[in-house]
This record gives sequence, structure tokens and C-alpha cells, in this order.
Amino acid sequence: MKIKIGEIEFQNPFILASGPATRTAEMIARAFKLGWAGAVTKTICLNYEMMVDVSPRIAKINGGLKNIELISSRSPENWVEDIRFLKNSYPKSIVIASISAEVNNPGAWQELTLMMQDAGADILELNFSCPHGLPELDMGNTCSDTPYLAGEIINSIKKVSKIPVWAKLSPNVSSIKHLAGVCVKNKADGITAINTVKGFAGVDIETGMPELNVEGLTAYGGISGNIIKPVALKAVSEIAVSVDCPVSAAGGIKNWQDAVEFIMLGASTVQICTEVMHNGYEIINGLQKGIYTFLKKHELNSLTEIKGKSLKYIKPIADLNKQAVAAAVIDHSKCIKCGKCYKACFDAGYQAITDSKNGFLKIDRQKCTGCGLCKAICPVKCIAMKVQDSVVPNLQL
Ligand SMILES: Cc1cc2nc3c(=O)[nH]c(=O)nc-3n(C[C@H](O)[C@H](O)[C@H](O)COP(=O)(O)O)c2cc1C
Repeated sequence: MKIKIGEIEFQNPFILASGPATRTAEMIARAFKLGWAGAVTKTICLNYEMMVDVSPRIAKINGGLKNIELISSRSPENWVEDIRFLKNSYPKSIVIASISAEVNNPGAWQELTLMMQDAGADILELNFSCPHGLPELDMGNTCSDTPYLAGEIINSIKKVSKIPVWAKLSPNVSSIKHLAGVCVKNKADGITAINTVKGFAGVDIETGMPELNVEGLTAYGGISGNIIKPVALKAVSEIAVSVDCPVSAAGGIKNWQDAVEFIMLGASTVQICTEVMHNGYEIINGLQKGIYTFLKKHELNSLTEIKGKSLKYIKPIADLNKQAVAAAVIDHSKCIKCGKCYKACFDAGYQAITDSKNGFLKIDRQKCTGCGLCKAICPVKCIAMKVQDSVVPNLQL
């Protein structure tokens, strides 16, 4: 399960992402003891006294969390002690120091770099991506919004850094691939993708009050958890094919299967935040066991053998085969006759599903264009899409 990135060896691909679970050395130490290969500290800054959090700052949304938490309110000096302690006590565990400063203040980035590397951090992660609270201070997501300045920050850090520098990027930009390219051109040694997606938790329709209600007011925040996984999968795969550097994936990873998906899309390591906030550091046991069993089942020696395996399947729509028209095929032995596919096809499709006398639904091959909607919404997975060359649907119907 070991992963080697340059000179650095991770015992397994699982890293605690920067966040509430990496707030202190004591917490990180507990995670290391349980088997986490590495941890990214809560983001450290020089203007830590400005990081005064509101409460509440975390709310549940469907499929994840919304948060308006700021970065660490602990001083860099405190963190230096923490990192020293962690490296002395757990030399094999990888400590990644997350740092942040203003987009136009290279001196502050350099100062934090020197402090963290002297403390013994293995890697630096530059927080270019916190989407709430920090942009107002010209920090966080502002760096992702201005790729040119992000490049300059890396450039100045690389003048003083002796340890690898990873840039943590935001999905809240028009092209994360372009941004990653600028970072690597300026000699970033790795990319972490993604931070949270900008969002809003919702409104209580009885009162009109916002969810995540801070004394009657709220703010836009960052969405995390499984709901953002598709955004992260796209970001990681796009970056993996376009830049030549290790990618650490974050965003919606809940279990070992999610981790394998990200690795098949080019990630070297995976970072987890929200799932740990729900189920604690102990999830590492299931993650490790799952990967171990998967490697054995597929007779793989290491995860490197599957890294990027699925990237070759992603192409522009224009490159996909338009000649092979698939059509829905219903497995009547599994169908529960709920009628959902009929309704969907009738009102949002091609009116290709019809009722037959014995109560079974039929597909009209002249009308079915193979859109896949019926399969997508079938609650018992009894519909398959099969290419049948002999019949071509009449698209004018
Ligand atoms: C409450 C909370 C606080 C976070 N704080 C930080 C932070 O200080 N620095 C940082 O780089 N990312 C921070 N993150 C982002 C996570 O590291 C991670 O990129 C994101 O949540 C997506 O991963 P997940 O879906 O596993 O949570 C925070 C996320 C949450 C939910």
C-alpha cells in the first residue's frame, strides 16, 4: 500500500485533509497512531489573530456539509512546536504544513515556509482555495482566481524552500487545469484538488431564516462531502492528464472504493475531511483493509499499477461513437412494474416505453434514442442499455 512521491514515502495513500480533524498535534498524533499515513495541518497564517470564528459554522446539507469556518487561529509559533513534536514522535508519518497569506505578500509566504520547514514539515501545502472569509482578506480563493499571482507566490516560495511544495486549488474557477498548469510551470511539486465548492445551505421555509443561522444572519460558505465528489473527480482527472506532477485528491471521499476511483483517475494520494468529521479517525481501518483486499483480488503489487488507468477513456464528445445507438432493454424478471420509467420517458423522453397487455412495459425501438434516462431512474436496476445496430431510431418522432 506504500506510495513513494519523490523522496517521500507514505505508508498508505490516506491523508487527513486540512480541517477540524487536524486542529492540533494531539489530534493528529491520535490519527497517526491509528494508521493514517499523513496529515495536512489546519491552515496556518501570520494574521492568525484575525481568524475569529462565528458559531455555529458547520451545517448539514444533503450529501455533505456546508461550513464557514476560517483557518487556524493558533499562532505559527504554536504550530512549529506541534510539527516538531509530531516529527519526533512519528518519524514515518508525513506532516504536511498548510500555509496561507495574502496574494500580494510573497514575504509572508516565505516567512511561513521557513518556519514550517525548520520545524521539520515534510511537505508544504499552499492554501490557494478557501472560498469563504479569506477572499475578503485577499487570501484563500483569491489566489486561485488570479493564476498569475499564484504562480508568483510559488516562485518566491521555491527560492527558499527545501521541501516539496503542493498547491491546493479551488474548484471555484473557470479552468482548474489552466491554474494547475501555471502552478507547475512555476515549479510546484504537487497539486491538491479540491477545496470546498462555494455554496449556500438553504432556507427554513416556515420562517424564511437561513440554515447555518448566526444570530439571524448567515454567509455563503464551502460545500464538502460526497456531494462534491463528481466535481473533484473531474478536477483531478483533468489535472492528471494535463500536468506532470503528483496529484493529491480531496473532495467527497467516503470509502476505499472512492479512493480507488480517484487513483484510477490519476491521483497518487487521497485526502479526507468530511467523512472523518462524521465517523472519526477509525475509518482508516476499513480504508486500509479495503485497499489491501482489492489489491489481492486483482493480483496487484501496488496501487501504482492502477494509477491513471481510466484516464484514457475520457474524450471530448466529438470523439465518441455516434453510430452505435444503444437502446433500453428491460429485464422483466426483475421489473417491479412501478411505472417510473414509463412516466419519465413519456414526459421527459421520447415516448418510447409503452404498456403491453400483460402489464409488462415494452420499448419501442423506432422511438428509443438510448438516452439512458429510464436506466438512470429505475429503482431496481432492471434496465440495461444495449447497442443493437439493426434498428435506427427516427429522431423526428
Ligand atoms: C469545516 C471545514 C474546515 C476546513 N478547513 C480547511 C483549512 O483550514 N484549510 C484547507 O486547506 N482546507 C480546509 N477544508 C477543506 C478540506 O480540507 C477539503 O479540501 C474539503 O472539505 C473537501 O474534502 P471532503 O469532501 O473530504 O471534506 C475544510 C473543510 C471543512 C469541512
